[in-house]
This record gives sequence, structure tokens and C-alpha cells, in this order.
Amino acid sequence: MRCSLLLLFLSLLSLSGLGSSQLSVDFYNRTCPDVDKLVHSAVSAMANQSNVVTPSTLRLLAHDCFVEGCDASILITSTTNNTAERDATENNIPQQAFDTIIQAKKAVEAACPGVVSCADIVVMAARDAVVLAGGPHWEVTKGRRDGLISQASRVPGRLPGADFNVSELIENFAAVNLTADDMVILSGAHTLGFSHCNQFRSRLYSFDGVNGSSDPSVNASYIGSLKVSCPPGETGPGKFTPFDVSSPFVFDNSYYKNLQIGRGLLFADQVLFTDNTTRPLVNEMADSQDDFFAAFVQAMTKMSNISVKTGSDGEIRQSCSSFNAPPNSTTPT
Ligand code: HEM
Ligand SMILES: *[C@@H]1O[C@H](CO)[C@@H](O)[C@H](O)[C@H]1NC(C)=O
Ligand SMILES: *[C@@H]1O[C@H](CO)[C@@H](O)[C@H](O)[C@H]1NC(C)=O
Ligand SMILES: *[C@@H]1O[C@H](CO)[C@@H](O)[C@H](O)[C@H]1NC(C)=O
Ligand SMILES: *[C@@H]1O[C@H](CO)[C@@H](O)[C@H](O)[C@H]1NC(C)=O
Ligand SMILES: *[C@@H]1O[C@H](CO)[C@@H](O)[C@H](O)[C@H]1NC(C)=O
Ligand SMILES: *[C@@H]1O[C@H](CO)[C@@H](O)[C@H](O)[C@H]1NC(C)=O
Ligand SMILES: *[C@@H]1O[C@H](CO)[C@@H](O)[C@H](O)[C@H]1NC(C)=O
Ligand SMILES: *[C@@H]1O[C@H](CO)[C@@H](O)[C@H](O)[C@H]1NC(C)=O
Ligand SMILES: *[C@@H]1O[C@H](CO)[C@@H](O)[C@H](O)[C@H]1NC(C)=O
Ligand SMILES: *[C@@H]1O[C@H](CO)[C@@H](O)[C@H](O)[C@H]1NC(C)=O
Repeated sequence: MRCSLLLLFLSLLSLSGLGSSQLSVDFYNRTCPDVDKLVHSAVSAMANQSNVVTPSTLRLLAHDCFVEGCDASILITSTTNNTAERDATENNIPQQAFDTIIQAKKAVEAACPGVVSCADIVVMAARDAVVLAGGPHWEVTKGRRDGLISQASRVPGRLPGADFNVSELIENFAAVNLTADDMVILSGAHTLGFSHCNQFRSRLYSFDGVNGSSDPSVNASYIGSLKVSCPPGETGPGKFTPFDVSSPFVFDNSYYKNLQIGRGLLFADQVLFTDNTTRPLVNEMADSQDDFFAAFVQAMTKMSNISVKTGSDGEIRQSCSSFNAPPNSTTPT
């Protein structure tokens, strides 16, 4: 009884819009009622074709939101006049992530043309990637509009780096109003997917700039296998190595368990356990997958809310990979 009253109170709170932005779960109820189902089915079809789809689609959302906010700026392709965000070196995101959004947009446009933003599709698709990988499901709030700026030159300094320590990570997340706890929880996304060797090579061969030294926080038996997939003297990005060796396609709390035994892949992963300010939360998440899932849902909802454009800001893109053409009428003849 007390529980259902609480639920009633919470749903009234969310209907009234108190304490939330103008986004809402019901945003397309009348204009595109099946939008969540359409996106899920498109992501599922893509995920069945390639196991790169779920990790890269989740990462796509973070990279969208950290630069210009969650406004699909990451999806714009470069033109002769504009090197777009996605082509910044920091954004080496697999093509399959972009293809997934394009397929979802196609399905959505067929059912309800001109209504659903690419920005909302990116958020729903990331949610579906988590679900398809065995993680939690949650209702995505919608009503974001697509941004009008996408420039590679605006990326540097906005995305967290693989070699960041805890204070640098906290500062980077604070710039988009996310807390240190949000940062630790969102890092749990590294239970999925892979990193190129160049993102962690210095931990193996030249830690702290000292030639021949390795990061003492790497597990001794792990370092041997990392050196095999990431040989010394190699140049360029190198091979793709899983963050979570035992289950790179399963969304679970093993990321945190790995950190406890020195098996974090990036410096920025392992340091969450090394640093005693973030270690307690790492241990909590390692102890309870249910707690991790609940915290992850909250943090994803917060991240999906960064600098969203609503109302008449931005636009609803026709094609997710390019800005809408300006109306002809404004062009004098
Ligand atoms: C905490 C700071 C973070 C750092 C330093 C970081 C860094 C990285 C790096 C270096 C890679 C490998 C890229 C490559 O070599 O191709 C990566 C991959 C990935 N990141 Fe993060 N990331 C962070 C936060 C996040 C967040 C917030 C999310 C999503 C919620 C996320 C999701 C992912 C996923 C799923 C992959 C695997 C992508 C794939 O396999 O294609 N990361 N990240
Ligand atoms: C989303 O952002 C708005 C505006 O900044 C804020 O009022 C609201 O509390 C945020 N909601 C969540 C769930 O973070
Ligand atoms: C929107 O649709 C969902 C799912 O059908 C339903 O649960 C919800 O009550 C609807 N909201 C409104 C405001 O109609
Ligand atoms: C993807 O594969 C799963 C398992 O085989 C299946 O249940 C699902 O329907 C497939 N998705 C699509 C969209 O075909
Ligand atoms: C690039 O800019 C030039 C000059 O401003 C303009 O004439 C041209 O249409 C632009 N091309 C594209 C693809 O936007
Ligand atoms: C993190 O790195 C910065 C810059 O190198 C340094 O100033 C800071 O003291 C470091 N913080 C921690 C907790 O190691
Ligand atoms: C963070 O919050 C401050 C204060 O509410 C606000 O002015 C700023 O626009 C927010 N920044 C982002 C990226 O959401
Ligand atoms: C680092 O050490 C290796 C062998 O120990 C050597 O081949 C290499 O030239 C050294 N690099 C630098 C920059 O000193
Ligand atoms: C290193 O990893 C193994 C599992 O492969 C684990 O049993 C061991 O405890 C780890 N060592 C440390 C110091 O955490
Ligand atoms: C954290 O570690 C530092 C030194 O590494 C120590 O000075 C400090 O007391 C520790 N704090 C806690 C809360 O354990
Ligand atoms: C704008 O002009 C193009 C080419 O001249 C034409 O195909 C298109 O239909 C026009 N659009 C509108 C909204 O008038």
C-alpha cells in the first residue's frame, strides 16, 4: 500500500514536470506512439549482424552528449566546408554505430515522417544496446531537438582521456554537470567493447614517461597478455583489445570486479580503484549488480540530459547525417 502510494506520487511528480526538463517519456505518444519499438527493432537487427554494434552505439551517446550536448552533432558528416565532430581524432567510432542510427531513423521516418529527432534516436538506441547486451531497461525521456553545429575543432578538451587521473576525470565530467559518482558509474559502460592499443600502450612500456617501466597497478598476469596484443614499438592505433576479457559483449558489473584485481584496461579505468576517493563506490558496484544497474540507469538519464535543445531550438533533421537545407523562400532570386 505504502509502495503504491509512493509510485502514484512519483508518477504525478513526473507528469507535472517538476524537477525535470521539458523532456518526457510520452513526448511522441500521439505523433509516433511506436517510436521505442521501432528503434529497438532496428538496433536489434543491426546487433544481430555485428557484435560491434552494441558497444559502439553506447559509446556514440557519450561522445554526442559531451560535445554540444545530446543533440546528434556527432552524426553529421564532413563537407568540403566543414570538418565535422565525428572526424575529430578523439572520435574514432566504428561506422556500425552510425549505420545503426541511420537504420533506426529510416524505420521511424517510414512510420512517422518528420517528427522524431536524431538526438532522441541516439539516446533510445544506446538504451537498446544496453538492453540487448543483457543490461537494465529504462524509459527514455524524449523531446530533444537536433543541433546546428558540428565541428571537429570543438572536440579537443571536451572528451575524457584514457590517461586521465581521478581529478582530471572529475573535472571533465563536472564541465557537463556530472558528479564524481556519475563518472564512476558511467565508466561501468566499459564492461562492453574494446580499446585500441594506443590508448593504453604507455602503461605497458613507458609508464610516467620512464622508458621500460610499466604501470604498477596492472595485474602481473594481465600485463603479459596485454603486451601480446599490444607489442612494443608498434605505431598507429594497433589492435582492438577487450575492456572486459571474460565477457566483452555482456553488460554486467564485471568492470568493477576487474578493477579490484588490477584488470582495468585504461589508466583511467584502473585509477578509479587505485584512488581512495573513488574506490568505495567501485567496491559497492562490484558487490551488487542490481545496485550498479539502478545507478547506471540514473546516470544515463542524467547524461542524456546534457544541454538538450527543446521547443523551437535546433531542428528535426530529415537525414541524421546532414543539417536540413535552408528553406528556398529566404533566398532572393
Ligand atoms: C570515464 C571516462 C572515459 C574515458 C577515459 C573513456 C575512454 C575510452 C577509450 C579510450 C575507449 C577506446 C576507444 C578506441 O580505442 O577505439 C573507449 C571505448 C568505449 N567507451 Fe569510453 N571512456 C569514458 C567514458 C565512457 C562513457 C561515459 C561511456 C558510455 C556511457 C563509455 C562507453 C564506451 C564503450 C561502450 C566503449 C567501447 C566501444 C567499442 O568497442 O566500440 N565510455 N572509451
Ligand atoms: C535535466 O536538465 C534540466 C535543465 O538543466 C534540469 O532541470 C533537470 O533536473 C535535469 N533532469 C535530470 C534527470 O537530470
Ligand atoms: C503514453 O503511452 C504510454 C504507453 O502506451 C502510456 O503508458 C502513457 O500513459 C501514455 N501517456 C500519455 C500522457 O498519454
Ligand atoms: C536478433 O536475433 C535474436 C536471437 O536470435 C532474435 O530473437 C531477434 O528477433 C533478432 N532481431 C531481429 C530484429 O531480427
Ligand atoms: C561552401 O561554402 C561556399 C562559400 O561560402 C558555398 O558557396 C558552398 O555552397 C558551400 N558548400 C557546401 C557543401 O555547403
Ligand atoms: C592529476 O593530474 C594532474 C595534472 O597532471 C595533477 O595536477 C594532479 O595532482 C593529479 N591528481 C591526482 C589525484 O593524482
Ligand atoms: C551546468 O549547470 C550550470 C548551472 O546550472 C548551467 O549554467 C550550465 O549551462 C550547465 N552546463 C551544462 C553543460 O549542462
Ligand atoms: C626504450 O628502450 C628500448 C629497449 O629497452 C629501446 O629500444 C628504445 O630505443 C628506448 N626508447 C627511448 C625513447 O629511449
Ligand atoms: C591477478 O589476476 C588473477 C586472476 O587472473 C587473480 O587471481 C589475482 O588475484 C590478481 N592479482 C592481484 C594482485 O589482484
Ligand atoms: C587516501 O590516500 C592518501 C595517500 O595516498 C592518504 O593521505 C589519505 O589519508 C587516504 N584517505 C582515505 C580516506 O583513506
Ligand atoms: C527548393 O528548391 C529545390 C531545387 O530548386 C526544389 O527541389 C525543392 O522542392 C524546393 N523546396 C521548397 C520547400 O520549395
